[in-house]
Amino acid sequence: MTTTSRKGIILAGGSGTRLYPITIGLSKQLLPIYNKPMIYYPLSVLMLAGIREIAIITTPQDQEQFRRTLQDGSQWGVELTYIVQPEPEGLAQAYILAEEFLNGAPSAMVLGDNIFFGHGLPDMLAEADARTTGGTVFGYHVSDPERYGVVDFDADGRARAIIEKPRVPPSNYAVTGLYFLDGTAPARARKVTPSDRGELEITTLLESYLGEDDLRVERMGRGYAWLDTGTHGSLLDAGNFVRTLESRQGMQTGSPDEIAFQKGWTDAAILRKQAQLFGKNAYGAYLKDVLEQE
Ligand code: TTP
Repeated sequence: MTTTSRKGIILAGGSGTRLYPITIGLSKQLLPIYNKPMIYYPLSVLMLAGIREIAIITTPQDQEQFRRTLQDGSQWGVELTYIVQPEPEGLAQAYILAEEFLNGAPSAMVLGDNIFFGHGLPDMLAEADARTTGGTVFGYHVSDPERYGVVDFDADGRARAIIEKPRVPPSNYAVTGLYFLDGTAPARARKVTPSDRGELEITTLLESYLGEDDLRVERMGRGYAWLDTGTHGSLLDAGNFVRTLESRQGMQTGSPDEIAFQKGWTDAAILRKQAQLFGKNAYGAYLKDVLEQE
């Protein structure tokens, strides 16, 4: 059913301790970003990349709520598979947990709490998708790089290292939570040993590609927004950003319903049903407009 063999992963487990007490009883990735659950936004990114087979990795206790929220994906013309991460043992572990699902295919993994917005996003995703060997990650200029994995560029502007939470950052470019990796990622992830904080670090996995000169770091320019939602302030900021954008433009961002319809993965009957489901609010009204404009 896919136009490409690349499969998607949304990593939506973790403990969300920075958002306590909110996330004591709820998954961070189901919290609202203005008018949609957070996970709609990374899901939309994978759909924009043309990916239709997607695994959702969650904690054991939260899986049921994700299933209720997202169902099997057929309402968006995608196929969702649910996988449990028993303990939050690091981002690279996702590739081990998803090994069977991937079955040798290349993948695009997105963190369930990352929000991307930008006019050129579909093209950027298509370019990354077109590279079938090695990996592609995205560097984004931030004011506080020491909180992230940071790219060290050589004189020619090529990435030579990624340094996790450096005290003295070699650049302002943080590696975002979107990773296009080839089919060797699970085997490489198996070779990653836990870091001092006990996690299988994505940085170590990326280093294995870098060591073979097989990792591209694309810079996401200032025309893009990459939003973090992991703290109380950034969660509210992200919601306000989406609200500002949507009310000004009269268009939705992060709507799997709209993306699926525009890609021809769903038909008018399905979109009408979805619009009725949300009939009491502006999201439902918007879907009706999309339908009428067709
Ligand atoms: P983080 O924000 O680094 O961790 P967290 O979500 O557990 O939050 P906190 O630091 O407040 O305790 O995680 C980034 C994303 O990756 C987030 O969407 C959760 C997800 N994640 C997993 O699914 N499994 C993991 O093992 C880890 C470390 C993160």
